[in-house]
Amino acid sequence: MKRILVAGAVGQIGSELTMELRKQYGNENVVAMGRKTKPSDELLNSGPFVYGNVTNYDELNQIIKDNEIDTVYLMAAILSAVGEKYPQLAYDVNMNGLYNTLEIAREQKLTRVMVPSSIAAFGPSTPRENTPQETILKPTTMYGVTKVAGELLSDYYFQRFGVDVRGLRYPGIISSETLPGGGTTDYAVEIFYEAIKNKKYTCFVREDTKLPMMYMPDCINATIQLMKADINKLIHHSDFNLAALSFTAGELAAEIKKHIPEFEITYEPDFRQAIADSWPSTIDDSVAREEWGWKEEYTLEVMTKDMIEKLSKQLG
Ligand code: SER
Repeated sequence: MKRILVAGAVGQIGSELTMELRKQYGNENVVAMGRKTKPSDELLNSGPFVYGNVTNYDELNQIIKDNEIDTVYLMAAILSAVGEKYPQLAYDVNMNGLYNTLEIAREQKLTRVMVPSSIAAFGPSTPRENTPQETILKPTTMYGVTKVAGELLSDYYFQRFGVDVRGLRYPGIISSETLPGGGTTDYAVEIFYEAIKNKKYTCFVREDTKLPMMYMPDCINATIQLMKADINKLIHHSDFNLAALSFTAGELAAEIKKHIPEFEITYEPDFRQAIADSWPSTIDDSVAREEWGWKEEYTLEVMTKDMIEKLSKQLG
């Protein structure tokens, strides 16, 4: 029997992606892999879980063989802010983890691989408004450098070896289940926790910082939808622009205030401001819409309401 591996299954996207894939393909057919963080009871009890490290070729190879995996979602990554603190680690996980996965996919003739990219692939010289699909890719973070290289390497494996690799340039992802770890867009998640718990938040980017964002249900849909797309309709493979929402930190705070009127925000930009300033504020994702029918569901208003409802319950 052929099965799915989610590497990075304990992370922000991996944890919810694993649960949705288990719903769609059966619990036993979706193997969750984590590196060291303890998985939630839900993740651990609903299907197979293994510890493994994508930077260890032999270990990853063995896990894929032993579990009869034919599809890999490579969600393990070091994000932009942590990547600037530990650039060598970011290179190791993001590049060597990807290289190992692609080599195993080639050798074991896997059916399909998902390799996410990010808005971090863009840089200060990229047009910031309505950033086109084909554009300047000169990022200034190690995370961004690994994402551009990753897109190129993935497309190379497709062209040269016929490995069916697919990838999306994720915007900042907002979610209520698992906290993001070490990204620049994390403020858009933290703000909800702090607004509910403490009615105040100190934001690490300026009020007028506008970035592309997306609510988790849309992110999961986009990811699975691209993996199911008819390959004959795909002209692009590893580098789809993807968008849903774009708002400033101030606009998000104002939306939260509609639900929590006492909420107060202050702004103390730190080193992450420069990273945010190097990324686009809006993205043209018409190619994803044309080639595989992408369409988002959540608006800023609906997402904010849903986040506040879910987190209020969780946080009591
Ligand atoms: N959310 C990521 C980050 O902030 C961008 O893809 O690093």
